Amino acid sequence: SFPSSVRLVEVGPRDGLQNEPDPIATSTKLELIDRLGGAGIRHIEAASFVSPKWVPQMADHREVMTGLSRRSGVTYSALTPNLRGLEAALECGIEEVAVFGAASETFSRKNINCSVAESLERFAPVLERAGKAGVRVRGYVSCVLGCPYEGEIAPAKVAEVSRALFEMGCYEVSLGDTIGTGTPLKAKRMLEAVAREIPMDKLAAHFHDTYGQAIANLYAVLEEGIAVIDSSVAGLGGCPYAKGAAGNVASEDVIYLLDGLGIETGIDLNALAATGNWITQAIGRPNRSKVGVALNAA
Ligand code: HMG
Ligand code: MG
Repeated sequence: SFPSSVRLVEVGPRDGLQNEPDPIATSTKLELIDRLGGAGIRHIEAASFVSPKWVPQMADHREVMTGLSRRSGVTYSALTPNLRGLEAALECGIEEVAVFGAASETFSRKNINCSVAESLERFAPVLERAGKAGVRVRGYVSCVLGCPYEGEIAPAKVAEVSRALFEMGCYEVSLGDTIGTGTPLKAKRMLEAVAREIPMDKLAAHFHDTYGQAIANLYAVLEEGIAVIDSSVAGLGGCPYAKGAAGNVASEDVIYLLDGLGIETGIDLNALAATGNWITQAIGRPNRSKVGVALNAA
């Protein structure tokens, strides 16, 4: 059955922008984050403490995290793949971070330059240090419904990596359909395999919309009981290590779906749509939210 409320994790400022080739001003990122908070979003993934050589667009992570005007009740998180990233994030006063692994060996190597097993070894001290600092850690698993290099990924592998992250201390595991190749039945089966290892209320859906299936996939996993959804305003984004990957499912489209199902989110759809319109104009990208385009035309 459907959950009565859903927590939306807005990943636009990180996942949405990380792949933009031209530098985006820190002030634009800060305004985006502020507008998202103003629309009622309570969890915003704001930056990424990764190598600026690998992901140049996230090089201003310190300026973003320290430049935020924090709203009460809003969590501002960032990716930290290793201890070095975590230490830098802690210096910025971060309260939540995320480690990111994969269910595909090849993707793991391309994305974070190590095997899946090695990545888990790197994450362990990050979780330990974060725990001591009172910082919550979220875990991502990429390629849960397919890999750009390996194709099909076994649900058992997704379950295994998810369980490892959860047992290490991640408070929540976000399941990433990195390249958006999933379909609803496949998404359900994958989720069933993971939910045998981890309680459903510790899982999140992080679906990209490359094949236009993300909303259908979300409907399928909502029915299974998923109550945390990652999305990106205006459907911004793409992963630098997954060629052809489109953005995350658009936040506006997700809220429209949830509103229609009578599922509570606390988010103001019109304010969100206006934010999508503003950021796409600011960075010269098309608005990939159908709901956003429709509302802004109305
Ligand atoms: P590495 O080469 O294995 O590590 O990279 P290293 O320790 O040997 O360091 C290499 C270089 O990076 C060195 O610099 C380090 O100083 C530097 P150099 O000596 O060459 O000048 N470095 C750092 N700089 C800043 N901050 C740090 C840091 N660590 C090392 N924290 C590493 C390993 C993970 C750092 C690298 O592979 C990397 O940065 N990868 C980027 C991965 C990334 O950001 N991918 C996109 C996000 S994941 C995603 O989008 C998927 C998701 O949305 C879910 C889904 O959709 O599936 C989450
Ligand atoms: Mg992603």
